[in-house]
Amino acid sequence: MKSLQFSASPFVFLMIFSLSSAIHANEEFLHCLSSLHPQDSSSITSLIHTPNNSSYSSVLDSTIRNFRFATPTTPKPLVIVTPSSVSHIQSTIHCTRKHGLQIRTRSGGHDFEGSSYVAQVPFVLIDMVNLRSIDIDVENKVAWVQSGAILGELYYKLSQEADTLTFPAGLCPTVGIGGYMSGGGYGLLFRKYGLATDNVIDAQLVDAKGRLLDRTSMGEDLFWAIRGGGGGSFGIVVAWKIQLVPIPKTVTLYTVNKILEQNATKVVHQWQSIAHKLPIEFYSGITFAPINIDGDGVTKKTVVASFHASFLGTIDELLPIMQESFPELGLVREDCTEMSWLQSILYMGLLPNDTLNILLDRTHQNPLLSPSFKSKSDYVLEPIPEAAFEGVWERLLEEEAHSASISLIAYGGIMDQIPSSATPYPHRGGILYKIVYSVGWPAEDNARSEWYVNWTRRLYSYMGPFVSKSPRRAYINYRDVDIGVNDENGKTSYEWGIKYFMENFDKLAQVKTMIDPDNFFRHEQSIPILPPSSKMEL
Ligand SMILES: Cc1cc2nc3c(=O)[nH]c(=O)nc-3n(C[C@H](O)[C@H](O)[C@H](O)COP(=O)(O)OP(=O)(O)OC[C@H]3O[C@@H](n4cnc5c(N)ncnc54)[C@H](O)[C@@H]3O)c2cc1C
Ligand SMILES: *[C@@H]1O[C@H](CO)[C@@H](O)[C@H](O)[C@H]1NC(C)=O
Ligand SMILES: *[C@@H]1O[C@H](CO)[C@@H](O)[C@H](O)[C@H]1NC(C)=O
Ligand SMILES: *[C@@H]1O[C@H](CO)[C@@H](O)[C@H](O)[C@H]1NC(C)=O
Ligand SMILES: *[C@@H]1O[C@H](CO)[C@@H](O)[C@H](O)[C@H]1NC(C)=O
Ligand SMILES: *[C@@H]1O[C@H](CO)[C@@H](O)[C@H](O)[C@H]1NC(C)=O
Repeated sequence: MKSLQFSASPFVFLMIFSLSSAIHANEEFLHCLSSLHPQDSSSITSLIHTPNNSSYSSVLDSTIRNFRFATPTTPKPLVIVTPSSVSHIQSTIHCTRKHGLQIRTRSGGHDFEGSSYVAQVPFVLIDMVNLRSIDIDVENKVAWVQSGAILGELYYKLSQEADTLTFPAGLCPTVGIGGYMSGGGYGLLFRKYGLATDNVIDAQLVDAKGRLLDRTSMGEDLFWAIRGGGGGSFGIVVAWKIQLVPIPKTVTLYTVNKILEQNATKVVHQWQSIAHKLPIEFYSGITFAPINIDGDGVTKKTVVASFHASFLGTIDELLPIMQESFPELGLVREDCTEMSWLQSILYMGLLPNDTLNILLDRTHQNPLLSPSFKSKSDYVLEPIPEAAFEGVWERLLEEEAHSASISLIAYGGIMDQIPSSATPYPHRGGILYKIVYSVGWPAEDNARSEWYVNWTRRLYSYMGPFVSKSPRRAYINYRDVDIGVNDENGKTSYEWGIKYFMENFDKLAQVKTMIDPDNFFRHEQSIPILPPSSKMEL
């Protein structure tokens, strides 16, 4: 025992040292925070959660959407602050800086790599849950939405106050406004109205100096950068002013499932050159997943391709278009369902449709989504050869892929019209479709995470020849640390930045250097500071 203690002592010493300095920083931070709010010290106290408070774990766990980052060894924040005013954000930034800590900002917690609530350094978590007001101006078709609101709250409020209007946002109601807007944000209406951030007209941001800026005071370059340059780089966005868009009374959805034995491969191959040319009223996608089928009393594993679409119009309007442009799908009236726009959100989000209140439930854990997951993304510019899909099916039939899925989302429409430099999101013209690969597993299987994650890496490597190249593009809101991360020593090629932002990365780095020269807002894939007059190594 004694010798063990002795031999372990340098390590134990280091641990105790860093632990006690963390506790020290923590106490100083708390002191700093309450000293800045002497008048309402009682109210700020109730918004600070230390590991001593029972609220700490409930707040922390409330929006962890990927249980890969909810293990006992996942690094936890020293303190969680749930600000209810801009001044709380300003003083949290001030005190965090003063005591040499870092900040992570969380709105809806859907970050694929947990970057909004996990860090390898001592950090303070700002959780935006209490800043989620939504103010709709029906007459002018605009709204102010705070970052802590979730998409479902926005859809719900719009349906109550402006039922002919909506906002072109995403499919999953629990996604947070803050992160979603920061990375671009696509959804059912993106081929008609563009990304969510294409419809942002003003914003409120607290920068590293604690200043509250709006579009006028931040200037057009910073306003450009926060609309797609990714969260956690430029400051904390408190609220977004959005442009609302009209929606028709009726939308039509269809799903057509084809397994490999029903010539799915051929139809998938054809879809690639058809879907991006469909009218802008269409959102069109395919999801591949492994499935067990019964044939002659024996269970057999195969792959199902689910062709789905959402169409702004009626079945009668949809059918002739599909029969003309994509007869091979064999779509019939019985495959289609008419519903309201709001019902279509529930339907696509796989939510029960008997009450709209489900849209307000920010902690709703969809039973069909995997608790733990790893995802990666690709963009396709040329149709993938039919034979190449055989390799995809092989991988989907592997053991690791029991809860895997691959989704193809058609591009085209207005995305072809908007210049790639209009916002930091560059993947616009010439894209046929985007792919997202996901593998999931139950939380009890977290010990085998690497086994599952390896599956996505093998698949990604297999897909290399068939997808965009130089760079191989990726979607920032589908964060993937495999494509590269910031190196604390500055010896990084920023390959990941080029993949997400292409030629816009350079301007993002310039804006970052201007607004946050000390690199206070940083994480594994935050926009880096440029050394003066340096050329980026591409
Ligand atoms: C189930 C699911 C469905 C999804 N569906 C879609 C979809 O349909 N369309 C789509 O485009 N994407 C979709 N995504 C991806 C999603 O857009 C991103 O994960 C997005 O970043 C989530 O935002 P959040 O606020 O929930 O995440 P968070 O994890 O809270 O934040 C994500 C990133 O933004 C930063 N951030 C958060 N809030 C702020 C703020 N106020 N100011 C500055 N930085 C901030 C965080 O620090 C982090 O880096 C989906 C993700 C999941 C898990
Ligand atoms: C956390 O604990 C402290 C000290 O016991 C207390 O003053 C504070 O009100 C608690 N905060 C919350 C959010 O419960
Ligand atoms: C947490 O509680 C421990 C013991 O109960 C105490 O020593 C410590 O100061 C407390 N920390 C904070 C931040 O309140
Ligand atoms: C699949 O394609 C083959 C060859 O084109 C055809 O003979 C067969 O009927 C098709 N099967 C289905 C289920 O459509
Ligand atoms: C709600 O879901 C049920 C079951 O899936 C379905 O039968 C019903 O048609 C749906 N209602 C609407 C309005 O979509
Ligand atoms: C994952 O892949 C790496 C590299 O190919 C390999 O070394 C490792 O053993 C794999 N891990 C698991 C759990 O399969």
